[in-house]
Amino acid sequence: MRPYPRELEHDVVLPGETRCHVRPIRPDDAGGLAVFHARLSARSAYLRFFTVHPELSASEIERFTHVDYDERLALVVVLGSALIAVGRYDRLPDSSEAEVAFVVSDEYQHHGIATLLLDDLALAALQRGITTFTASALAENVTMLRVFSHSGFNVSLSRDHETVSLRFPIEPDDQYRAALAARRGALTHGSSHGPIGRIDPSC
Ligand SMILES: CC(C)(COP(=O)(O)OP(=O)(O)OC[C@H]1O[C@@H](n2cnc3c(N)ncnc32)[C@H](O)[C@@H]1OP(=O)(O)O)[C@@H](O)C(=O)NCCC(=O)NCCS
Repeated sequence: MRPYPRELEHDVVLPGETRCHVRPIRPDDAGGLAVFHARLSARSAYLRFFTVHPELSASEIERFTHVDYDERLALVVVLGSALIAVGRYDRLPDSSEAEVAFVVSDEYQHHGIATLLLDDLALAALQRGITTFTASALAENVTMLRVFSHSGFNVSLSRDHETVSLRFPIEPDDQYRAALAARRGALTHGSSHGPIGRIDPSC
């Protein structure tokens, strides 16, 4: 297990000037994660877990909040004392691939949070020897599919009935760098409807 990676912490400003904090998940997020999940709409929980899932079980909370910050990493977005989003990767056994998943509280969807978490997770994963992300999403989950396809990563998709499997290398190429620069550039010149504003700890 790696030490808690404090270097992954930073603040973000959501459209509307709401300031949030991004940080790796910790075991003491158990209560906050349970509340976050219980407050999700039935639709959001369904899209995340592919089934009706109103509450996280004790074992899910344990697994989701206890990560080794290496093979398994989760980042949370915190507003005040409440979690408003979680993005995670889990490395697949004996491979350099990891599966990613995201969930954002309903009132903060479409603020650029999943895109930001994907950028952060990809950078952290690369630093930990992971080269490729995979994901599964329901075919009806257009928002999630568009987050991946608009990320700038070179995403391959395959569909099996109602599920879409995605796979993409996370080593930045020119296309990803341009997409990332556009996101960051837009926030530099951003408006209240612009993308999320990132505040790095070094700033
Ligand atoms: C799917 C999900 C994770 C996406 O999270 P999100 O934070 O809403 O995603 P983003 O905001 O980064 O991107 C969504 C859209 O909002 C847009 N957006 C970003 N900032 C915006 C802003 N300030 N104003 C308006 N739209 C904005 C993005 O451009 C994107 O639009 P696009 O589809 O045209 O590219 C979220 O909807 C969710 O939690 N859904 C339920 C759970 C789920 O489906 N999980 C996935 C399981 S695989």
